[in-house]
Amino acid sequence: MKVLVIGSGGREHALAWKIAQSPKLQCVYVAPGNGGTALDPKMQNVALSEVQDLKHWALEHAIDLTVVGPEGPLAQGVVDVFRDAGLRIVGPTQAAAQLESSKAFSKAFMKRHKIPTAAFETFSDAALAHAHVESLGVPIVVKADGLAAGKGVVVAHSLAQAHAAIDHMLSPDAHVVMAPGAEARVVIEAFLEGEEASFMVLCHGLSALPLATSQDHKRLLDGDLGPNTGGMGAYSPAGVVTPAVHARVMREIIAPTLKGMMDEGMPFTGFLYAGLMIGPQGELHTLEFNTRLGDPETQPMMMRLKSDWFEVLWAASAAPNVPHTLEHFPSLGMGHSEVMQSAHPLDDIELVWDRRVSLGVVMAAHGYPQQVRVGDVVANLPLGSDTTQVFHAATRREAEHWVTTGGRVLCVCALGENVAKASQLAYELVKTIQFEGEQHRTDIGWRAKH
Ligand code: AMP
Ligand code: GLY
Repeated sequence: MKVLVIGSGGREHALAWKIAQSPKLQCVYVAPGNGGTALDPKMQNVALSEVQDLKHWALEHAIDLTVVGPEGPLAQGVVDVFRDAGLRIVGPTQAAAQLESSKAFSKAFMKRHKIPTAAFETFSDAALAHAHVESLGVPIVVKADGLAAGKGVVVAHSLAQAHAAIDHMLSPDAHVVMAPGAEARVVIEAFLEGEEASFMVLCHGLSALPLATSQDHKRLLDGDLGPNTGGMGAYSPAGVVTPAVHARVMREIIAPTLKGMMDEGMPFTGFLYAGLMIGPQGELHTLEFNTRLGDPETQPMMMRLKSDWFEVLWAASAAPNVPHTLEHFPSLGMGHSEVMQSAHPLDDIELVWDRRVSLGVVMAAHGYPQQVRVGDVVANLPLGSDTTQVFHAATRREAEHWVTTGGRVLCVCALGENVAKASQLAYELVKTIQFEGEQHRTDIGWRAKH
């Protein structure tokens, strides 16, 4: 089997690494990939990233299955384009990807389907938005509508901060990726207190296979201080998602979301990621949806997965098991969504996870997340072992060494009996790796250790 993974980050390195372990695999191609995927055995980089180029390349190379890492190509409709060409792919259609690509869509969807989320209003008029925050006061949360690479949210603790965020997000300087022709909008929502967790499921229509839970650390600095980033480290499982919370998330968030998407004619396929806020009294809210796996959560999560990941993704990309009598559904006038409601191969899968904790520490470049410096030489990269793995995110192989090419450079992962042990092992490795201007948090997993 030949698999194509689209993307270039640590999430994609970890996905490709796990897929490549399947005995069925001949090669995992990563487009465009990074300095880690360039050298791994059974992996090969492909220097392409445009959707049409990827489709032609996949057809030419008889790719059996494609897996999409980041949100960008999903919002551009890569899944629709591949499916139309008869290619098998894991991910949501462009319409379904709106759950992530538009905060205004996703918040309105949650409201329509009574999925618990923070109270909110959406504005395109700056004056009305300013007046709204004046009337509500702080703390308050301002979110850009559209894809902003993890930088479209400001949790404002002063009115000045909230006003500045509104002006910035409604201006062209915000660099937010929106649907063509869409006007700039901001979502202003109530501030929620509690502990966050990442809850990811692999879906097809109404079928949902939950993955291991995890917790990300979005702020740049220790103690959850400093600016928001794409994520500075993560561990799995997240203890805050108790079995009772898990059952509630499936019932109150995942099931109504899949049903709602189906009812609205956008059956969801691929990874659905609910960012949860779990309040001190067990209140459960959805902070956001992503329509892909989390980065860096995927890196420690893949370390814990014992099942054949290729087989799981293969099943996820299958057509539903249409009941025998309905095999010729078009002649029975059965619509797409009715077919999507029938049994699916995903329903037969039970994932096996290592019971140990996995923890990943992101090593970021000088200036991240604002003014990222690239081109620093990365020294002393260790080899992986049974309990440790260094996933590359923004590196490039140059002559005999690796150099940095972006903000989050590496994710150093380790398995251990508990959070403290996994953390100790990961940080021992972090200490050995060097590059100029390197930054990392020293407290990944702190909420679980205390
Ligand atoms: P988002 O991209 O929507 O997940 O937001 C990024 C981060 O901002 C989240 O991980 C939270 O830490 C924080 N955040 C977002 N929405 C809220 C909210 N309503 N209340 C408190 N914090 C929030
Ligand atoms: N780590 C958060 C995200 O992938 O959106």
